[in-house]
Amino acid sequence: MANVAVIGAQWGDEGKGKVVDWLASRAEIVVRFQGGHNAGHTLVVGDQTYKLSLLPSGVVRGKLGIIGNGVVLDPEALLSEIAKVGAQGLKVTPENLRIAENVPLILPLHPALDQAREAARGGDKIGTTGRGIGPAYEDKVGRRSIRLCDLAEPETLSAKLDELLLHHNALFRGLGAPQFQKQPLLDRLLELAPLLLPFSEAVWERLDAARASGKRVLFEGAQAVMLDVDHGTYPYVTSSNTVAGNAAAGAGVGPDTIGMVLGIAKAYSTRVGSGPFPSELHDDVGKGLGDRGFEYGTVTGRRRRCGWFDACMVRQAVKVGGINGIALTKLDVLDGMAELKINTGYRINGELVKRLPAAMKAQAAAEPVYEVLEGWSGSTRGARSYADLPAQAVKYVRRIEELVEAPVVLLSTSPERDDTITLRDPFAG
Ligand code: IMP
Repeated sequence: MANVAVIGAQWGDEGKGKVVDWLASRAEIVVRFQGGHNAGHTLVVGDQTYKLSLLPSGVVRGKLGIIGNGVVLDPEALLSEIAKVGAQGLKVTPENLRIAENVPLILPLHPALDQAREAARGGDKIGTTGRGIGPAYEDKVGRRSIRLCDLAEPETLSAKLDELLLHHNALFRGLGAPQFQKQPLLDRLLELAPLLLPFSEAVWERLDAARASGKRVLFEGAQAVMLDVDHGTYPYVTSSNTVAGNAAAGAGVGPDTIGMVLGIAKAYSTRVGSGPFPSELHDDVGKGLGDRGFEYGTVTGRRRRCGWFDACMVRQAVKVGGINGIALTKLDVLDGMAELKINTGYRINGELVKRLPAAMKAQAAAEPVYEVLEGWSGSTRGARSYADLPAQAVKYVRRIEELVEAPVVLLSTSPERDDTITLRDPFAG
């Protein structure tokens, strides 16, 4: 049975929500495997708009959602998201949501540390969402996380909080920030325990059973390859591995379970937060893309930086992310532009390179090497087959396929779910 993993192929916000929603309607289980409530997916279902950060998109489509161990889970954010969608008529219960018992928790000290660190960086901010994602992952690899299962063992919880506070309060002292007291944290976690533990289980067993019975599983990535903690524009990245390889470790399945890897790429580029962006546009063309594409962060509300499609970077994302096919989104935003540019490589200190190097100064010095294509005057908006597209638009898509070395298997031509050109069913393997 073929499963599908969906990951972002640029810097996030590629329009994953729509594609994931469409795929979720064809899957039986949807699993989040990394990130936390730094993600933001907008799903439009009938007359309801759901803004999800933590819940796997499938729950909106009546599917089983799983939050894997690779996620960092803020219990307060989860409960408020459950309450918010509940008010819209969507009930989230242990029947339709399961959470890995070994998932690390985000506690109030994590966003406090995230924000204190960003403030201390002055003009050199990462531009994090301030939600504590980085500090929570640090605690995980530092082996001091409070995990969901700890809520069932008050004595373990108490001892682990002592260890955690010893570490964090030393940091807060150094940053001149307020200290955290143990008792209020412990009391709140013990209050949360009966609300959260009914969702907790060894999700790897359920996923193993799903595999045995041939159920279709969708692994829903958050953020994107260029924000991957190893492969992205470090240190201007998130703190998890966003590549498809992490779907296995972050859910508790073998690598052969992942199946087809679909990379979502926007027909141009955007980025929120700081960091290198070689094909960024600082002129009216970039502003036009931002206005037409309505480029504002779902989580932060910040205006996104905009630029030309960077095929060199997406090719790199295809290779390191394990992407077998591309879903190209927001092609209609390019409608009516006289000319389009695609970045094909970088000139760095006079030398032409075909990959974005890892070193910070080299990344900052990378200048795009553009190929110029003619635009199209007709509309691609709402097209549902290649025959509906202007010839130049087809050329643009074909050129992207060649340059990124992966086929475009889905093409999204408007925010509407059905305005999609499907060239290959990802679940067909
Ligand atoms: P963090 O994940 O909050 O630590 O933020 C680290 C970087 O990742 C910042 O540049 C954020 O703007 C970016 N980031 C985190 N989540 C998303 C997302 O869902 N879409 C786009 N950028 C994100």
